[in-house]
Amino acid sequence: MQNEVTIRPMEGEDAIEIHAIHTACLRTTLRAHYDEGQISAWTTGRTPAGYLRAQDGGEAFLVAVANGVVVGYVSWEDGELLSLFVRPHAQRTGIGTLLADAAFRAAETAGSPIVVLKAALGAGPFYERFGFEDSGPGSTIKRGVEIPDRRMRRQLPEAGNDGYPSPD
Ligand SMILES: CC(C)(COP(=O)(O)OP(=O)(O)OC[C@H]1O[C@@H](n2cnc3c(N)ncnc32)[C@H](O)[C@@H]1OP(=O)(O)O)[C@@H](O)C(=O)NCCC(=O)NCCS
Repeated sequence: MQNEVTIRPMEGEDAIEIHAIHTACLRTTLRAHYDEGQISAWTTGRTPAGYLRAQDGGEAFLVAVANGVVVGYVSWEDGELLSLFVRPHAQRTGIGTLLADAAFRAAETAGSPIVVLKAALGAGPFYERFGFEDSGPGSTIKRGVEIPDRRMRRQLPEAGNDGYPSPD
């Protein structure tokens, strides 16, 4: 499938499919790691228009399209990966990797490379493949319900000869 996938910026008409992919991932893939109350708090109140408002507010979005259908999306802002979701039936076919690579390249080109993220439970091993390391547990509160995650961070290699920033 990977050869047929193209990555492009989100357009207005993609919002309905993005919302559907996000909801399907929460209700199926992530249901293995979160209970019903957490998934319900996470999905309630989300609308397609919300993704477009986020884009207007500065969040960058890319979508993956296969055979004319949106099959995944990624978003980021200010050096943080904010979301990466692949339609459940299309997972583990390389689409997440294509989206992540494209987002990392675009953010770096824009001068604000992605160095942190909040990984949903179960997604950590995927991000480790891009050099992210687990920096401990975290959580966010959605509609009064605690949603646990893993905080991950990576060091960019070009900072100095040894991979660490030069001292001031
Ligand atoms: C996590 C996610 C974005 C990965 O996208 P994907 O298209 O399925 O990933 P890829 O096919 O590019 O995976 C490449 C490799 O990453 C690793 N990988 C991917 N998902 C993994 C997972 N959940 N657990 C462990 N390893 C994983 C595997 O090594 C995989 O190679 P393999 O399939 O040959 O074993 C996708 O599974 C998804 O949408 N999950 C549900 C939502 C989610 O958790 N998003 C992250 C929110 S922070």
